This record gives sequence, structure tokens and C-alpha cells, in this order.
Amino acid sequence: MLSFLGCGNMGGAILDGIVRGGVFSPEKILVANRESEKNLSLKKKYGIGTTLEVSDLETCEIVILGIKPQGLDALEFSPKKNAIVISLLVGTPVAKLQKKFPDARIVRTMPNLGQFAGRGMTGIFFAPDATFSPDEKSKILEIFSAGGKVLNLDSEEKIDGIGAISGSGPAYFFQFAENLVSAAQKLGFSPEESEILIRQTMLGAGEVAENFSEISLGKWKKRVMSPGGTTEQAIRVFNEFHLEKIVDDAVAAAMKRTRELSK
Ligand SMILES: NC(=O)c1ccc[n+]([C@@H]2O[C@H](COP(=O)([O-])OP(=O)(O)OC[C@H]3O[C@@H](n4cnc5c(N)ncnc54)[C@H](OP(=O)(O)O)[C@@H]3O)[C@@H](O)[C@H]2O)c1
Repeated sequence: MLSFLGCGNMGGAILDGIVRGGVFSPEKILVANRESEKNLSLKKKYGIGTTLEVSDLETCEIVILGIKPQGLDALEFSPKKNAIVISLLVGTPVAKLQKKFPDARIVRTMPNLGQFAGRGMTGIFFAPDATFSPDEKSKILEIFSAGGKVLNLDSEEKIDGIGAISGSGPAYFFQFAENLVSAAQKLGFSPEESEILIRQTMLGAGEVAENFSEISLGKWKKRVMSPGGTTEQAIRVFNEFHLEKIVDDAVAAAMKRTRELSK
């Protein structure tokens, strides 16, 4: 039995991928939330089992922990011996999860916003001192690949790295998109026109990069930049203002905060 302990935004996105992708059939899924309304709407949409009592999940083989990190200390839950607890919690180290659930095997994951559109990017780290069979590992990878791509990581440090890159990454792109929307308005486009221009440009760049992944992102940039052309001039300005350094510093700041939160 697969269960979700807390199934809100991210848990819901993962659940959606699992049911649509047929990774688990609805009757093998049990969701625990504190609000009966949330449970009712998930039950209606997916035909899964729901409960208001987290103790009902204590017999499940796999528990996806989908609560907020700040709720962990107060949580009273004892998974069954050898159960797999898959944590979605940002900045919560394996050691802390192991202390909380000493009889369980821990898997730490870092999904991102794309999961809501079946285009997620999830990093997965299997606690090294637990044993997972090849079947268990591939089932866990399937849970997340139903809603996007998955990277199986060989160190926990990389989970924090994933957080600072692809976890926060959608917001970085949105920041740039917001600035481009404002630049478009300064050229005389209405707010609506500007949003259409930028959304479609982001989508087109993303689709091209995905559909022709044999071509590197740097090469795609060069394809848009004809020598002596207009794009080249814009990129020259990014370089003059050291965009690369700005991005490096921004990612370093996200990493620093992750380390602070992990203590
Ligand atoms: N959202 C993202 O983009 C994202 C990305 C990466 C990782 N994450 C991680 O995913 C986790 C969930 O985030 P979220 O955005 O999905 O949060 P969310 O929408 O608040 O979902 C959490 C759900 O868990 C329920 N819950 C909390 N404590 C519970 C308890 N003791 N028993 C039963 N249900 C409980 C909440 O119910 P109430 O409403 O009653 O509190 C809510 O339905 C977080 O740990 C976050 O760090 C999220």
C-alpha cells in the first residue's frame, strides 16, 4: 500500500502523476489529511482511500511524507518496521528523518514546480545505510518519473544542490520573465500582450531545448545570436554586467540558506 501523510500542493501533484501513469492503482493508495474537505475532493477525483487519522498509515509499506518541514517535530507517527518513508521536505536531512522514524528506511527527494504540469525535475537520494531491493528502487523512481524527470543522486549534498538549482529554478526563470515583461511594456506593449510574448517565448525555448536535447543550451543560444545582429548586442550587455556572477551568487545564497535550515 502506498500512502501520503499530508497531501497538499506537492503531494497532490505527485498523486496525480501516479494515478494517471498507473504506477499504483487507486485502491492501493491511502491519503491522510487533517481536513475532511481535502480528503473528499481527492477521493472524488482519483477514487483513492482517505483518512483523517495518520495512525491508519502505520501498516503501509511506503509513506510519502508531504507535510511542511516545520510540522515534523510535532508529528506523531510510527511507520511499520522496515517501511519506506519518502520525504518531500525541503532542508530536512536524512539523519533527522532517521531519528524521527528509526524503524523505517528513508528516501529523501526534492521535486519542483514542474511536477504540476507533468514536467517535474526530482532529485532522489536513498539513505545509504538502508537496503532497498532493485524493484523497490525502480518503483520509487517510477513514482516521481510519472510526473517528470528524475535524477538518482549519489550524495545527500546534491539534494541541497538540486534545491538551489531546479527546486528554486522555476522562480529564477519567472524573475527573468517578469523583467522581460516589464521591458516589453517599456517598448509599448500592453501588460496582456507582454505576458503572451514572454510566456510563449519561455515555452518555445523550453520545448526546443527538450525536443532537440542533442544540441547544448549554449549552442541554442548561439543559434539565435547571428554575428553582428541584435541578440548579440543584448547578450553583450548581460556579459558586461556579469550575469554569470550574479547567477553564481544567487545560487550560493540559496545554498547557504538551505544549510542554515538543515541544522
Ligand atoms: N510546493 C512545492 O513547490 C515544493 C517543492 C519541493 C518540495 N516541497 C515540499 O513538499 C512538502 C509539502 O509542500 P506543499 O507545498 O505541498 O504544502 P501544503 O500544500 O501545505 O501540503 C501539506 C499538506 O499536509 C497536510 N498536513 C500537515 N500536517 C499534517 C498532519 N500532521 N497530518 C495530516 N496532514 C497534515 C496539510 O494540511 P493542513 O492544510 O491542514 O495543514 C496539507 O494538506 C513540504 O515539505 C515542502 O518542503 C514543496
